[in-house]
Amino acid sequence: MNENSLFIRACKRQETERTPVWIMRQAGRYLPEYRAIREKHDFLTMCKTPELASEVTVQPIDIIKTDAAILFSDILVIPEAMGMNLDIIESQGPVFDSPIRSAKAIENLNIEGVVERLNYVMEAVKMTKEKLAGRVPLIGFSGSPWTLACYMVEGKGSKNFDIIKSFIYNEPAAAHRLLQILADSIIEYLNAKIRAGCDAVQIFDTWASILSPSDFEEFSLKYIRYICENLETGGAPVIVFAKGVSSYAKLAELKCDSLGVDWTKEIGTVRKEINGTKALQGNMDPTVLFAPKQKIREETERVLESYGTGAGHVFNLGHGILPKTPVENTQYFVECVKELSAKYHA
Ligand code: CP3
Repeated sequence: MNENSLFIRACKRQETERTPVWIMRQAGRYLPEYRAIREKHDFLTMCKTPELASEVTVQPIDIIKTDAAILFSDILVIPEAMGMNLDIIESQGPVFDSPIRSAKAIENLNIEGVVERLNYVMEAVKMTKEKLAGRVPLIGFSGSPWTLACYMVEGKGSKNFDIIKSFIYNEPAAAHRLLQILADSIIEYLNAKIRAGCDAVQIFDTWASILSPSDFEEFSLKYIRYICENLETGGAPVIVFAKGVSSYAKLAELKCDSLGVDWTKEIGTVRKEINGTKALQGNMDPTVLFAPKQKIREETERVLESYGTGAGHVFNLGHGILPKTPVENTQYFVECVKELSAKYHA
């Protein structure tokens, strides 16, 4: 059933009767139903309890009516499973209490059995598939090696990422060792998620944006390429979202099906740049959902128009939905995509 879903077909650049839509971070704090559960449990407990993770995964399908679900979890469960102590602090975001600052710290990571320790994710996938009962496909995800390394070395979010960048310039061998360890774990992890039932997988490279084009090639793209080449997808589409990159030419050569586009580019220009060789996912500015309804409708139309007619567009925001976004506007946005997109398809 899911192979014929709008989302999977669009990822594979097959014709659809309208453009499918889902929203990055759709299982999250902007939903009162999410906050009600989150009030009673801490974030990691939610990730580690399949009953709770599957419940919040399905919430946006019922409430926002998106065309795909994304498993509630976090990219940082991999470093957590390698033995790094993770805290999600309300005002600050994720924090690791002992970040990696040396080659020795990398050797101390517990890299055997990571995916076994993440078995709770596979259980959440299975339970979510049962709750979805074929209504929409389920997306599994991972951070890219580079984006995970940013958090593991910085210890938290950062303004200018001077610690991770000093690390790659001063200790390139150790940095590459860390990125390779992560890439190998990510392959195993995404393969396990697909085996457990995920219909597609997305690799988030949120911090691609802080690298020069040549550093992006050396410290990020190289490892994404390696992951894409070693996944056992069984036909599940692979989506790569590298935020803030200046060119899509090299991304278009990856062994993947779809590329995410942030809102600083014209999606139609990217489509031309890569000559339609990949499906594209995006790319409305998330803050447009704070605008009056008329503006939301106009911007939805503008993105559809920019992509143009034909197959291979998955509508999304250009990055995750923000915690204060009004639910009503989000529902309206999804309705707009569904209604306005039909005329772009034969
Ligand atoms: O998309 C979804 O709805 C699925 C769930 C999901 C979460 N995090 C849940 C979450 C996904 C796909 C992620 C990915 C993620 N996590 C990324 C890559 C995508 C991006 O947005 O750039 C990154 C960089 C992280 C790391 C992370 N986790 C941050 C920066 C934060 C705090 C700030 C924030 O955006 O909320 C988290 C915590 C987190 N992950 C929350 C949720 C719902 C909020 C936790 C809470 O309820 O307090």
